[in-house]
Amino acid sequence: AVAASLFACAGVAQAEGITGCDEGEVTIKFSHVVNTDRHPKGIAVSLLQSRVNEEMNGAACMEVFPNSTLYNDDQVLEAMLNGDVHLAAPSLSKFEQFTKQFRIFDLPFLFSNMEAVNAFQQSETGQEMKEGMVRRGLLGLEFWHNGMKQISADVPLVNPGDVAGLKMRVQAADVIIAQMEALGASPQPMAFSEVYGALQTGVVDGQQNTWSNIYGQKFFEVQDGITETNHLLLDYMVVTSVDWWDALDPAIRDQFSQILREVTEARNGASEAVNQEARQAIIDAGGTVRELTPEQRQAWVDVMLPVWKQFEDDIGAEKIEAAKRINA
Ligand code: LMR
Repeated sequence: AVAASLFACAGVAQAEGITGCDEGEVTIKFSHVVNTDRHPKGIAVSLLQSRVNEEMNGAACMEVFPNSTLYNDDQVLEAMLNGDVHLAAPSLSKFEQFTKQFRIFDLPFLFSNMEAVNAFQQSETGQEMKEGMVRRGLLGLEFWHNGMKQISADVPLVNPGDVAGLKMRVQAADVIIAQMEALGASPQPMAFSEVYGALQTGVVDGQQNTWSNIYGQKFFEVQDGITETNHLLLDYMVVTSVDWWDALDPAIRDQFSQILREVTEARNGASEAVNQEARQAIIDAGGTVRELTPEQRQAWVDVMLPVWKQFEDDIGAEKIEAAKRINA
């Protein structure tokens, strides 16, 4: 895989974010779907890239392909198993095709804040999940935070009934599809890179995502407003292929793991600030943000909570209990 990527390294030197790797360096290709400088994931990848290229110069070199320029999330894990890319950080919703236990992260209103998310991910249960796909050739290295999702459409959304009958873009994940169906909407699975165009042309009426994604992709420009529901989590796992990882020189693997750990701690601690800046930037750019009263928000909870029961067997009641204890 390393030899193949060294070859590719020379061939794609024009792409954004490419530094040009020297001969003899292990090339580490990281593909993602967001911007590089105003997004929790994009900033983390940029920091990782600059630290690897500085501190591991001569031994390893990281190339970054942001903004879905190389792969979208539906393609990237397949490409990783083929050795065409080495790292990605897809949303946790993208892993359910490999192991249904990841569905826990998509349960609406399970996590009350990012501290609870962090505590669950760092618990024994959470850490074990990083190795839950090893059989399928993928290894999780670190959890990365984005934040909580908000909901928007081309009409004002205040009550959950306002979403009924609308075509809503979702990530292709069964829990999220069920969550939209609970709202009486028509869920439309779609790649992230296609959402802006679909909203603009009316192929879909609305979507749900974090402030940083709504700002970064300019969704607010083609929506009536964004309703602050904080109803779902959007988090990531930095993932690699078991084959590539195991074949790395142990010294390179250790140094890289240490840098990744430090970047994770630094940037996970800043993800909420990045999202709050994006929220403010939406308002500054003329976008509408709708806050809900506690009673109004409770109505959304009541409609979506029954979704948990549908997925309890896939996830495991014990795991759900463990997450609930952390939130108590
Ligand atoms: C989405 O598809 O909405 C997200 O997974 C995009 C991302 O990576 O933040």
